[in-house]
Amino acid sequence: MEQIGVSRDDHPRDDHPEDDHPEDDHPADDHPATRKHKAKDEFIRIVNLRKSYLMNGVKVEVLKGINLSIRKGEFFGIIGFSGAGKSTLARCINRLETPDSGKILISGVDILKLSKTDLRLARRNLGMIFQTFNLFEAKTAYKNISYPLEISGVSKTNIRKRVLDAAELVGLSDKLNAYPGGLSGGEKQRVGIARALVNRPDVLLSDEATSALDPQTTLQILELLKDINRTTGITILMITHELDAIKYSCDRMAVLEDGVIIESGSVDDILGNAHSYTGRLFAKVFFEFKKSVALSDGAGI
Ligand SMILES: Nc1ncnc2c1ncn2[C@@H]1O[C@H](COP(=O)(O)OP(=O)(O)OP(=O)(O)O)[C@@H](O)[C@H]1O
Ligand SMILES: [Mg+2]
Repeated sequence: MEQIGVSRDDHPRDDHPEDDHPEDDHPADDHPATRKHKAKDEFIRIVNLRKSYLMNGVKVEVLKGINLSIRKGEFFGIIGFSGAGKSTLARCINRLETPDSGKILISGVDILKLSKTDLRLARRNLGMIFQTFNLFEAKTAYKNISYPLEISGVSKTNIRKRVLDAAELVGLSDKLNAYPGGLSGGEKQRVGIARALVNRPDVLLSDEATSALDPQTTLQILELLKDINRTTGITILMITHELDAIKYSCDRMAVLEDGVIIESGSVDDILGNAHSYTGRLFAKVFFEFKKSVALSDGAGI
């Protein structure tokens, strides 16, 4: 029998009363996945998050009480099958969707309780990249990257400096005059990453950002994200159905199954001994695939 929301993290329970979040009296705080995470370095905390949609007049629950904790500066992976609710979760975190209930605490501030103005400011602190890049086809790479700054009212001189910095960070300085139509998939995603980072956010949310790329480009983009994570200290939340991408980039991960976080912990623990059906199946495919690649390379023959 699976345990719902099992967390196998080993970081010690913090006993300081000030870190016990006394302002949070939600019953979900007693959830084992949440209780273990009240450590000092906790940065994003999601508590009992629920989201449903009306489909033909019928309420369909997609997120059924998400509990999750992510530390400052970590590169954290979330895996799940198609339809598990990954993009819905991402859209709730950046508030493109409004959840039905629950909490999303970033640095202790519940972003579901912010006023419109405060939410607009908080959103600048959250960059997002997508599988389909979501670029403006009629704008150059420069104009795509500068867009978030232009709508924030930043001065032209500052915009130029920040765009050039972001372009350099993603290795795209020589393509700033190109239009998306003239860029490869990897280059388009670099524009997407630069645009997501141009406001210098604390959090980067990635929803299947490498899923449309070939394996070599995927590796380059993951390497870039790892580098940005290391050098800027940005917290990255990578949502994907590619376990290899998580294995390559993340120390910790969570498994989303049918609208709940069914387990979370170190990537190696989950790969080696997944408790959930989803986790076990992803791990099986991961190891079987590795085996077949090794055999086709001649190893073991
Ligand atoms: N705006 C919407 N209205 C109605 N149902 C929706 C809406 N958005 C998502 N859903 C439903 O919610 C469920 C989860 O969708 P979601 O896009 O979050 O899945 P996912 O895990 O990201 O899948 P994938 O790996 O295919 O991207 C699906 O059944 C989907 O049909
Ligand atoms: Mg999705």
